[in-house]
Amino acid sequence: MTESANFQNDAPLESSIPGASLESILCTQELRNRPSRPPDYETENRALVALASALADSPRTILQTLADKVFEVLHADSAGLSLLTEDERRFYWAAVAGAWRPRIGAEAPRNFGPCGDVLDHNVPMLFNHWERRYPYLSSAMPLADEGLLVPFYVNGKAVGTIWAVAHDNRRKFDAEDLRLLERMSRFASAAYQTVESIENLRLQMSAREEAETELRELTNGLEAQVRARTEELEQRNKQLTEARARLAEEKLALERSEAFLAEAQRLSLTGSFSWRLDTDETTFSEQLYRIFELDPDAPVTLEQIGSRVHPEDISLLSEKMDLARRNINDHDYGIRLQMPDGRVKYLRTKSYGIRHKDGRLEHIGAIQDVTEHRLAEEALSKLQSELTHMARVTTLGAFTASIAHEVNQPLSGIITNASTCLRMLAADPPNVEGARETVRRTIRDGNRASDVITRLRALFSKKGTIAERVDLNDATREVIALSLSELQRNRVILRCGLADDLPLVTGDRVQLQQVVLNLIRNASDAMSGINDRPRQLLIRSEREEGDRVRLSVQDRGVGFDPQAMDRLFEAFYTTKNDGMGMGLSVSRSIIERHNGRLWAAPNDGPGATFSFSIPCGPGSATGARSLGVIETPAAKDAKRVQRNP
Ligand SMILES: Nc1ncnc2c1ncn2[C@@H]1O[C@H](COP(=O)(O)OP(=O)(O)OP(=O)(O)O)[C@@H](O)[C@H]1O
Ligand SMILES: [Mg+2]
Repeated sequence: MTESANFQNDAPLESSIPGASLESILCTQELRNRPSRPPDYETENRALVALASALADSPRTILQTLADKVFEVLHADSAGLSLLTEDERRFYWAAVAGAWRPRIGAEAPRNFGPCGDVLDHNVPMLFNHWERRYPYLSSAMPLADEGLLVPFYVNGKAVGTIWAVAHDNRRKFDAEDLRLLERMSRFASAAYQTVESIENLRLQMSAREEAETELRELTNGLEAQVRARTEELEQRNKQLTEARARLAEEKLALERSEAFLAEAQRLSLTGSFSWRLDTDETTFSEQLYRIFELDPDAPVTLEQIGSRVHPEDISLLSEKMDLARRNINDHDYGIRLQMPDGRVKYLRTKSYGIRHKDGRLEHIGAIQDVTEHRLAEEALSKLQSELTHMARVTTLGAFTASIAHEVNQPLSGIITNASTCLRMLAADPPNVEGARETVRRTIRDGNRASDVITRLRALFSKKGTIAERVDLNDATREVIALSLSELQRNRVILRCGLADDLPLVTGDRVQLQQVVLNLIRNASDAMSGINDRPRQLLIRSEREEGDRVRLSVQDRGVGFDPQAMDRLFEAFYTTKNDGMGMGLSVSRSIIERHNGRLWAAPNDGPGATFSFSIPCGPGSATGARSLGVIETPAAKDAKRVQRNP
């Protein structure tokens, strides 16, 4: 609306204050008195025909055509149509021709302006310089010298004015102009209705279009919503399907792992259980039913469990249950079952308690049937002790000659002493004191022989492993005593360094002696071919850190290849013609059963040292008497040899 400025808004406030009176700007009466030009009907008719055909052909622009025709027929400087707005508060210049054409669309107040005056008085009016009364019109340049206005009506109601303006006084309107304008005004009425109906139509159409657009938008919106909702639903559906598939997979995996677990329980003979401490409700896995040999279709009860436990282990079970009830957890113990037919089963139980969020206490655990394992262990241990015994007998076999010699010696002593005694008694007078002395020697020799036999019997005896307090020095000395003649025969120089503060150890005396015997015999064997150096054998015992005792046997024999060290301890490994290769292997298992260690080490010089170390065990005490170094006769011989080379 650049050119079509609103007079009211454009003009300052004072422009809405009336200046001159209406009468002073009106000259309608004068118009009637002015000389009038003759009517030009031809031009007039042409204009009306043009208007009529314009009304039919281009009704939308009819108002402008009308303004153009007024301008043309009246020879005006400007011409136009002002229409009342719908709210009847303003006029707007619907069509303008001539100098004021750019002002199309301008608005003026209904109650304060020439158009309003014309409608108020319902007569045509001729104004002279109306800006004198209506200051805002002074902005409508060029100024109007004269303005001729005629109201026009629709259905008897004034709706606007049709007007012609002369901008200078060269052109004065006359009665002919008024007649022409009045004619045109009737046409204006028809044009207005046409436009209005078009406008209505347009409005209706645009309203319908708007409604349609709205509907479309609504539909689109709805469609979009439905689409979005459908997508969302589809998405949810997809998620649901996926979740269902996942669940199915998980269920399958669970079933599979349950099947694995059941299979694992079956294979490992392990069952599991849970026991609710508040209700004593107990649940057994399938395998546990099998172990207890109970009916899997009936719920298991504590009474049933109790009836299966071995009578000797009932107290153990109640003690463990009592601990569980007192919330003392983590149990790991062995217990026996006794089946109705008397069969005994060995079980290993591992269980622990858990407290649920609601405070309930539950005990869960696993029970393994270790009967077969246990029986196999027993059989193995029996086999082992038989093997140990056999190895011992074999070793002793090698000593038989020297043992016979050992026994033979006191026996010949006894015979000699008895003969001497007889001789002394037969003398005259009988030598009673001498006889008494020889009898004493006879008794001593008899005891010596008896000792040897006793020791031998102990070593040959076949009994299971027993744990007793053993003085390792004493046990070693006994073995030395048995081996002395064999060592002597083999020209071995034996030296002993047995610690005098040696604590007692807990173990099997005979088995430990077997180890010492085997080490001594091996040492002696290793030196049997050595002739270029003394065949020295050193047996030492000592106390070790951490309450342990060590015994070592050192020789100056052929030694061994350090790389082959581990092989020495393998069963059946031997380098001897008459060897079984069992000595070291059996010895090592004996020492390991004593929680100890047996090992070999090459000497700095020639030969090897074999040692074992065992813990003293509970309540070990120093019990050995000091024996210092005992020497074999061969050792004495060796010293002699060294002194007199
Ligand atoms: N003190 C040693 N010095 C060198 N080699 C040794 C010594 N002690 C054992 N060996 C080697 O270790 C092998 C295995 O000894 P082990 O006592 O197990 O069996 P063995 O003495 O051959 O036969 P046996 O079963 O009669 O004892 C021996 O044959 C020998 O080669
Ligand atoms: Mg041996």
